[in-house]
Amino acid sequence: MTDHYCVFGNPVTHSKSPLIHEEFAQQTQQPIRYTATLAPIDGFASAWREFVASGGRGANVTVPFKGDAYAICDTLSHRAKRAKAVNTLIVGGNGRTYGDTTDGVGLVRDLAYHRISLQGKRLLVIGAGGAVRSVLEPLLAAQPSEIVVVNRTAAKATQLAQDFADLGNIVGGAFDTLEGQFDLVINGTSASLVGDLPPLPDELFTKGAWAYDMMYGPEPTVFLQWAGPRGAKLLDGLGMLVEQAAESFFLWRNIHPETASVRTLLRQSLELA
Ligand code: ATR
Repeated sequence: MTDHYCVFGNPVTHSKSPLIHEEFAQQTQQPIRYTATLAPIDGFASAWREFVASGGRGANVTVPFKGDAYAICDTLSHRAKRAKAVNTLIVGGNGRTYGDTTDGVGLVRDLAYHRISLQGKRLLVIGAGGAVRSVLEPLLAAQPSEIVVVNRTAAKATQLAQDFADLGNIVGGAFDTLEGQFDLVINGTSASLVGDLPPLPDELFTKGAWAYDMMYGPEPTVFLQWAGPRGAKLLDGLGMLVEQAAESFFLWRNIHPETASVRTLLRQSLELA
């Protein structure tokens, strides 16, 4: 019996998830098939129902459907409730849909993979959209001394900080309120997609600080190109992508795949693209 999984997105042809999960399946000898499904922008719910009716066992959900996926679940993990987003769907034994988000765990595992400790560190998170909302809970769980969230629309950053204030020391505001230096600066905006650089002060990084862009591509993002000459060590979101996939795979198959070889494979596939 081969179990069928897929990724829903629009667009979806660029998705690396099939490549990643095929590698995980081969490595762990799991009998699964993983495909990509283009759902209509206003038709996620029916695309999911069709997939389940055809025997589908679970799915990943990418842009722009993480909110739609959240809305159709019968049961949600506590981290998905906080994130108000779902990137992993599981069909339960009774045909009910369970939703979780593995994006935040993916980010924190990637940081751990690179031996970046967050405990007692000062973090800056840029952006206040769905991507940032999905990672704040696990970031706060790693006990940084403070998380500052800044966003072009400052009110969204302030609101986000309020929503997570029960989990740790987090404040939100506008770019021009930024003060002091940070040990880790995470760009969670979609600005990189259009080659935009958020308005950041030059003296942003402590000695030995890391700059992390949740986006990735064959070339460093404009944010990473800006951060490098200002002394930061650089990471893009490729490792986060692989780690969130590994956590989804674990939720479906109850087995943790190894990620190092898949990171290498994916980086090579980007260079060849
Ligand atoms: P996602 O699910 O990827 O987070 P989103 O919820 O639409 O997508 O959020 C996009 C984020 O990127 C927001 O924080 C957005 O800022 P606004 O809230 O002010 O819109 C930010 N963003 C997008 N383009 C940007 C740009 N060119 N410069 C700065 N921030 C940008």
